[in-house]
Amino acid sequence: MTASPSLAIRGHTLLPIVQGGMGVGVSAHRLAGAVARAGAMGTIASIDLRHHHADLMEAAKHCRDKDTLNRLNQVALDREIKAALEIASGRGLVAVNVMKAVDAHPAYVRQACASGAQAIVMGAGLPLDLPLREAREQFQARHGKLPDYVTACVGGGSNAMGIFTAFLNDTSVKLVGVEPSGEGTDKPGRHAATLSMGKPGEIHGMKCYVLEDAPGVPAAVHSIASGLDYPGVGPQHSYLKDMGRVQYESVTDKECLDAFMQLSRVEGIIPALESAHAVAWAMRVAPTLSKDTHILVNLSGRGDKDADYVAKLLGI
Ligand SMILES: Cc1ncc(COP(=O)(O)O)c(C=O)c1O
Repeated sequence: MTASPSLAIRGHTLLPIVQGGMGVGVSAHRLAGAVARAGAMGTIASIDLRHHHADLMEAAKHCRDKDTLNRLNQVALDREIKAALEIASGRGLVAVNVMKAVDAHPAYVRQACASGAQAIVMGAGLPLDLPLREAREQFQARHGKLPDYVTACVGGGSNAMGIFTAFLNDTSVKLVGVEPSGEGTDKPGRHAATLSMGKPGEIHGMKCYVLEDAPGVPAAVHSIASGLDYPGVGPQHSYLKDMGRVQYESVTDKECLDAFMQLSRVEGIIPALESAHAVAWAMRVAPTLSKDTHILVNLSGRGDKDADYVAKLLGI
């Protein structure tokens, strides 16, 4: 395996590691600070950080309107950034992911900057050329051919773009992005299948497919995977869908849970709930394909962060 070159961001030379964004709210400043201290980019998910602060949760109990919740989240964001910077001790970079702060987006960006965040990222934030070259090279070296399918989950779209980019010119390789259909695409507000069910629109100043209640009003979304419940999607995916180069499918919360358990039990690999969507799609289609068909599944993250949640859901 060849070493990936360092990342140079804003005058900092970093390890080529960017910690994922939206699904990592559970650990907030501790993990982001530790990743930065190790010389890479740690990321704090900006949304719902109040859950980490008992006093803010108490305040939220008495007043649950959107403005109050956003204000409490911003107080939490300020505390989390400062705590992460302290742990980082001047090393690496501490970034804030603002992707899910859908309707209070500029306020969160302003808060993050005012509190000392050193970068703002959208989505899992995986750099485009990290997984791709190696996955393509390693697959070819091992199998003497390219995969027939490459699949990845799609929230904002960064991990999928990371792996798809290497294969875009390989027309024999089918690319499949997998979105969350949550409790069913027939239940508005209970899925986040933006490319499958949304329409062209605008969110966060970018033109892309969007799930909206009315023009400019993002719809409520849901997924068992906290990193996938986003009513927009990267413009590249919107373009790739329109030109027909990538096929977008969706899997339900239940299929995702089954895949999470199956991969954990059979391979000893605990996938992130986000990544388990791609595994679930592969499990759905594999029985319909010939034995010599290869599906390359991108695992965008580890499921340690989800283990407690899954155990609670399954009562184990
Ligand atoms: C592990 C993991 N995978 C995937 C995603 C989805 O983001 P994206 O579609 O930008 O890769 C997230 C978002 O937080 C994540 O944490």
